[in-house]
Amino acid sequence: MSEYVTVTHEGGIAIIMIDNPPVNAMSFHLRQPLYKAIEAARDDASVEGVVLACAGRTFVSGADISEFGSEKALASPSLPELCSLLESLPKPVVAAIHGTTLGGGLELAMSCHYRVADKGAKVGLPEVKLGLLPGAGGTIRLPRLTGPETAVKMIVSGTPIGAAQALAAGVVDAVVESDLTAEAVKFAKGKATEGGPHIPVSARDDKLVAARNDLAAFDAAAKEATKKSRGLDAPLACAQSVRNAITLPFDEALAKERELFIKLVSGDQSRAQRHLFFAEREAAKVPGIGKDVQPRNIAKVGVIGAGTMGGGIAMAFVNGGLPVTILEMSDEALDRGFATIEKNYGISVSRGSLTEEAKAKRMASFSRTTDYADLSDCDLIIEAVFEEMSVKKDVFAKIEAVAKPGAILATNTSYLDVDAIAANTSRPQDVIGLHFFSPANVMKLLEIVRGKETAADVVLTALQLGRKIAKVPVVVGVCHGFVGNRMLGARGEDLEALLLEGASPEQIDRVFTDFGFVMGPFAMWDLAGLDIGWRNRKSLGKTAVIGDAVCEMGRFGQKTGKGMYLYENGSRTPKPDPEIAALIEDKTKELGIARREISDQEIIERTIYPMVNEGARILEEKIAARPSDIDIVWINGYGFPVGKGGPMFWADLEGLSKIVAQLDHWHAKTGKAVFDPAPLLRSLAETGGSFAAMKA
Ligand code: 3HC
Ligand code: NAI
Repeated sequence: MSEYVTVTHEGGIAIIMIDNPPVNAMSFHLRQPLYKAIEAARDDASVEGVVLACAGRTFVSGADISEFGSEKALASPSLPELCSLLESLPKPVVAAIHGTTLGGGLELAMSCHYRVADKGAKVGLPEVKLGLLPGAGGTIRLPRLTGPETAVKMIVSGTPIGAAQALAAGVVDAVVESDLTAEAVKFAKGKATEGGPHIPVSARDDKLVAARNDLAAFDAAAKEATKKSRGLDAPLACAQSVRNAITLPFDEALAKERELFIKLVSGDQSRAQRHLFFAEREAAKVPGIGKDVQPRNIAKVGVIGAGTMGGGIAMAFVNGGLPVTILEMSDEALDRGFATIEKNYGISVSRGSLTEEAKAKRMASFSRTTDYADLSDCDLIIEAVFEEMSVKKDVFAKIEAVAKPGAILATNTSYLDVDAIAANTSRPQDVIGLHFFSPANVMKLLEIVRGKETAADVVLTALQLGRKIAKVPVVVGVCHGFVGNRMLGARGEDLEALLLEGASPEQIDRVFTDFGFVMGPFAMWDLAGLDIGWRNRKSLGKTAVIGDAVCEMGRFGQKTGKGMYLYENGSRTPKPDPEIAALIEDKTKELGIARREISDQEIIERTIYPMVNEGARILEEKIAARPSDIDIVWINGYGFPVGKGGPMFWADLEGLSKIVAQLDHWHAKTGKAVFDPAPLLRSLAETGGSFAAMKA
């Protein structure tokens, strides 16, 4: 008996109850008493069967991720040792699972002879999301329960399944409506009465026979499952290990799985992904918002503007279960907006991710209006109108006139000053920026822009609401472009110079995709439309040598079939265009620049280093509370490669001294401010500090 494990007996069944809040992770302090309790149940002749259950909100949700990298993680009894012990018991062992039975939790359950699940339980092996493969037999036991093709899909995706699906797939033996522990005891008693043998999962090979006779089918399933692994090692290791389960004897496959696990857990990719796991949870903790702050109630949302962003934002709220009223300037604009919404849901239906019935239900959650008075019952009103201060101020004046007291008034502006918008109202404490990313119904990131007057309960409400609608919210301060777009600006500042000095768009884009980005900056320009930036530059009296010339040629990107690249016959694949190469060379000559070979490393130094530098400035100015918040912004909003953990995490790995030295070099050469090292970055480099060690 211990604080973490208690044992009770009921009619010959020992109930081993784990209690390690909040999620019953398999910490070292739990593994020790658990091992002893299982041994004791094994050795007690009066015990006919065992039920392994958990107190609190869930069965074991995995190994203790915070122990990884420390001695505790591998210290005996390890999770694999616990699994082997459970499996060796000559009496029936039943896992009683509820909540989120994930990773090492499911591995523990699969080492029991039987699994009884609560109807609300979810089971899965999400290790891949931490840059790992299941390291306690998951890849070797799951295929024995479900067949290897289902297993490889589950393990490579890391996506959990519900109890009913788990029953159908063979992961669990029974699903119960209530009284989980009592039902599991009944189940164990029944099995004990039936008598043995109680065959452990490791000894069940029947589901592997077909794949052993035809590995090609499995290989095809594995290839399909891993096709989006994009430079990450873990998905491939998962698939390899499931393959080992088919081709090797159990013990050998298990030993290889452990080897792969130990290799991955000490690698940079897994460190990066574990960093992101904790970073996402840290981002929910905002300095200065105490436990006494209560969120406001949000039952109805108003969205102003049914364009690209307004439509997506409205969908995000409806998908999260909140009714939305959309306001536009005219019925035609509303018709256009609603047609797009309907089309988007239609795509989900055709892909099978939404039923017609669910689509109809969602469509019924929208209402439409051109009259501000119809927003008077909304608890939150978000504007997504044109990006112009005068328009925004006018819209806020109209919102203010009808919004009920205490309603939250939000702007989706990308760059404008949220404090200036708030100051124009009589209730600046209720004003906040909710910066969604396009497409807003898909992209995970939500920058919550806290103005200097924004009330703490408004920030808290936005954070909770963000999570409710499945976003990853990060609180940021007011500045031009907030965190994400401001750093994007720094990343792009020297791109044209690189082109003029000798790089090509395709080289730069390849350096970015090699780095792990989904696409490079020029492919991105073409996707977003070059004319947007062009018009913006014109309005600010700014110019860009290449960008302007390309637009003057009528090349606006994918939508016009050509931009920085060619898109032939409606293709979305960028094809290098000699016309662009010639244009760049002409401009180079015009400006008297000597072209030279540009190395891939130079491209990184002149694009990604300035981005890190801007991140450091953002921290100095307290626009972001901590470096990991910046990482969360870039991972969820800008396709920064997850295996690199975000720009600030990556900067530590790259070496802050190296970054500062090269920034100094490029600053001396170009005189551009983006290369001038931020004092914070310089001082961390000089003192051997790191972003990881900085606290909020
Ligand atoms: N280890 C350590 N801490 C964990 C943890 C874990 N496995 N899972 C959750 N936590 C912590 C969180 O960091 C958080 O701490 P905080 O309150 O101090 O911020 C707290 O538990 C609550 O977590 P959430 O805020 O995420 O709570 P939710 O209720 O939203 O979600 C959950 C619960 C679904 C269990 C979610 O936390 C989760 O997905 N956890 C990770 C599950 C996982 O990846 N398991 C596999 C681990 S690797 C493994 O098992 C290796 C093995 O194969 C050898
Ligand atoms: P959009 O041009 O697609 O849509 C704007 C909509 O607002 C139009 O349908 C227009 O009819 C409507 N509108 C304009 N003035 C209005 C008014 N006074 N009252 C009611 N409706 C009005 O523009 P988009 O791209 O949706 O941008 C909207 C806002 O979102 C801008 O502030 C933009 O900076 C921001 N944003 C845009 C992103 C993008 O990728 N497009 C990403 C994140 C933020």
